[in-house]
Amino acid sequence: MTIREIPAETLDPVRFIEEKCEALAAETAGGIAVNALSGGVDSSVTTMLAHRALGDRLKTFFIDNGLMRKNEPEFVVETMEKLGVPVVLVDAKDEFFSALRGVGDPEQKRQVITDTFYQSVFGRLVRESGATFLLQGTIYTDVEETVAGIKRQHNILSQLGIDTEEAYGYKVIEPLIELRKTGVRAVGKALGLPESIWNRPPFPGPALVARVIGEAAPEKIDLIRNATAIVEEELAGVDAFQYLAVLHEDRVTGVRDGSRRYGNQIEIRCWDSLDATEARPTRLPFDLLETMAARITSEIPEVVSVTYNITTKPPSTIEAL
Ligand code: XMP
Repeated sequence: MTIREIPAETLDPVRFIEEKCEALAAETAGGIAVNALSGGVDSSVTTMLAHRALGDRLKTFFIDNGLMRKNEPEFVVETMEKLGVPVVLVDAKDEFFSALRGVGDPEQKRQVITDTFYQSVFGRLVRESGATFLLQGTIYTDVEETVAGIKRQHNILSQLGIDTEEAYGYKVIEPLIELRKTGVRAVGKALGLPESIWNRPPFPGPALVARVIGEAAPEKIDLIRNATAIVEEELAGVDAFQYLAVLHEDRVTGVRDGSRRYGNQIEIRCWDSLDATEARPTRLPFDLLETMAARITSEIPEVVSVTYNITTKPPSTIEAL
């Protein structure tokens, strides 16, 4: 199948929404559809669009994997419910943490997240829901990256471990597949999503696991969650592509209350970039860097060292994993 791109310059978001809603309603006539909402731009826009087209026939799940940012599950679910979209919040924290136990290798950690999500948690929800349609927020860039071998295949059926024959009747629908991120944001805005959703900075699928070097144990996820909240609060007004905190595995000596303390190190990264393929560290004011260091070390006592990344991508990448 050849997918035709709709460039942002030629996109009419209102017309796109009308046409997609009509097509979705026709394609799913009478059936139940499910989707997983992560709170990211693509899945939020897919949810809103499908809700408009399907109403009660859409079942949206938000899977709380315990790896999200501070208050993220509540924020996303409440935002959607305010817009009239019911969301089922599924607590799968224990399942994810037990799957991640003892796993330190970066690629293996990503694989564990994918497998736990698709094969265990979402797979079970899909089977139990009696749905005949799966909605997915795949966008044009995902298709390009899949073809280029950069990203894993996006076919949800194979990710679910469902054989095509066995899965007869499960149809995957990807309503945003002709759009790139700029187009998706424009559609999200036209759908009435708040700017805090349609204009969100990127956040990786493996969530805070991508921000912890080594094993992503619950206490390390808690620590990076707190550091992330501080960095996001302090940098909210900065015109940057993305900003984040990384928890390192190595520890360093520091001083607390007059005695030596072997503590954790946090690295702050803040990027100027157009599309994440190349990036430069943002030239943040030194005062702002000092404020973040002071807040992180006083609000998170286990941390005794804060650094700022000054490397470009390439050779660095935006995330540390
Ligand atoms: P890197 O680290 O490869 O990141 O320079 C490029 C952009 O992609 C985001 N990223 C991900 N997004 N799933 C996602 O949906 C992932 O596994 C993932 N890993 C990285 C990253 O935040 C940056 O914007």
